[in-house]
Amino acid sequence: MIRIGVLVSGTGTNLQAIIDACQLGDLPAEVVVVISNNPDAYGLKRAEDAGIDNYYLHDDRVVLASLKGYAVDIVVLAGYLKLVSKELVQVFEGRMINIHPSLIPLFSGQGYYGLKVHQAVIDSRAKVTGATVHLVDDHFDEGRILIQEPVQVLDDDTPESLQARVLDVEHQILITAIADLIQNMDK
Ligand code: GRF
Repeated sequence: MIRIGVLVSGTGTNLQAIIDACQLGDLPAEVVVVISNNPDAYGLKRAEDAGIDNYYLHDDRVVLASLKGYAVDIVVLAGYLKLVSKELVQVFEGRMINIHPSLIPLFSGQGYYGLKVHQAVIDSRAKVTGATVHLVDDHFDEGRILIQEPVQVLDDDTPESLQARVLDVEHQILITAIADLIQNMDK
């Protein structure tokens, strides 16, 4: 069984998608620890409800020690609004992924998070946006792209309505990306 550690800062719907996929047997994995840099993150409550150990930690050295302590194989940044340290990236190179609510490199990088991304897409008058899963390096939203999926921008979209449709896609491609990663780790 692959051991997953998830880092969250907010609502944690992507975390929930991973928990559900593990419980349903869609992923040969289990979420063993959830860590947040935000003590009020609803993601911590989701972990608690699922019986998963969860911590509020903001020092990357402690985060790394915790992930190692839980013998984590894969780290998922699921709405984690903090740049991770070089050391963390090095230790989990090729095994740490991030989900971003746009087609990277568009609408990505520092300052592009949450509704700001979708507002910027609407302001640009783009007809297509999407979601991206990529490997993590020590820059915001860079690293090798693993999966991208487009989402249509509708004429009457608000940032909230667009976010909801992109989130649905995020939940799907995140699980696919984790499944692919696990398969490649077996080889
Ligand atoms: C998602 O849009 C994710 O791509 C971004 O932050 C949002 C987090 O949503 N990085 P949730 O906390 O998983 O609900």
